[in-house]
Amino acid sequence: MSAVLHHAPSHPTETLRVTRLEPTIGAEIAGIDLRQPLTPALRDELRGLLLEHKVIFFRDQAISTEQQIAFAREFGELYVHPTTQQNDPTQPQAHLIQAQDERKLYGPRTSGRWHTDTSWLLQPTLGAILRAVDLPPVGGDTLWADTAAVYRALPDELREEIDDLHVVHDFKSSLDKVGYDYPILAHPLVRTHPETGEDGLFINFSQNPSVIGWTPEKSKQLIDRLLLEFNKPEHQVRFKWQENSVAFWDNRSTLHYPVYNYGGYPRRMERVLIAYDDIPHRVRRANAA
Ligand code: SIN
Repeated sequence: MSAVLHHAPSHPTETLRVTRLEPTIGAEIAGIDLRQPLTPALRDELRGLLLEHKVIFFRDQAISTEQQIAFAREFGELYVHPTTQQNDPTQPQAHLIQAQDERKLYGPRTSGRWHTDTSWLLQPTLGAILRAVDLPPVGGDTLWADTAAVYRALPDELREEIDDLHVVHDFKSSLDKVGYDYPILAHPLVRTHPETGEDGLFINFSQNPSVIGWTPEKSKQLIDRLLLEFNKPEHQVRFKWQENSVAFWDNRSTLHYPVYNYGGYPRRMERVLIAYDDIPHRVRRANAA
């Protein structure tokens, strides 16, 4: 099992209880009250756990929107998304994530559900904190995939072929609808995580990904091949939401996939985005194997 653990385990804590959910992704964290302000030591510890597990989950946290915002602010400046609605216009940092809007965005294309937030930005958001507000009685899980595990699972020749590619992230039609003028841009497909140094894929299946300089056919073939790998349960963790559950994920090392299997139930979540991912890039190591 040690072969799949790519980071040293975080230092044991006196208060937090950490339950790893999958070998490389996902952990449930207990022994913390998110209504309380964090000490710098606790904040650093949570940040370390986020880097190690890529998405961390908290149960039984009856937090308000204000407390969710305050918690997120511990980890950086917040990003106000131009297209998402808010529950409360006086709290623009808290985005209302509603089933009907998400369905419009991703439609019936299940492929489009694997995404990372705001990758259309030159400097995408670092991560997100999502809180359950109104859940269906059953269903409505969210999955996260480990983008580094997906990259490592690709055959060597394919990894070599794609290492220097750039892929388009196109959110323009949604931005145009709200009059937000922003160009369509491309990011490197393979990026090095700025904090862990791990290489992973950076792609957003909901934003018309295509490879710069490749024919549409060749590009589609590659995107489909990558999607096949993202769809493997080996690279994923699946979270079953409950009342007062909170998820905190790293947009730089994961993609996520909301599952729509709950009919017309008006599932509602509240999301706060933490700004300023470093511009995705690839670090070439002189002695890389
Ligand atoms: C999101 O895509 O940011 C939200 C995921 C979810 O609603 O489960």
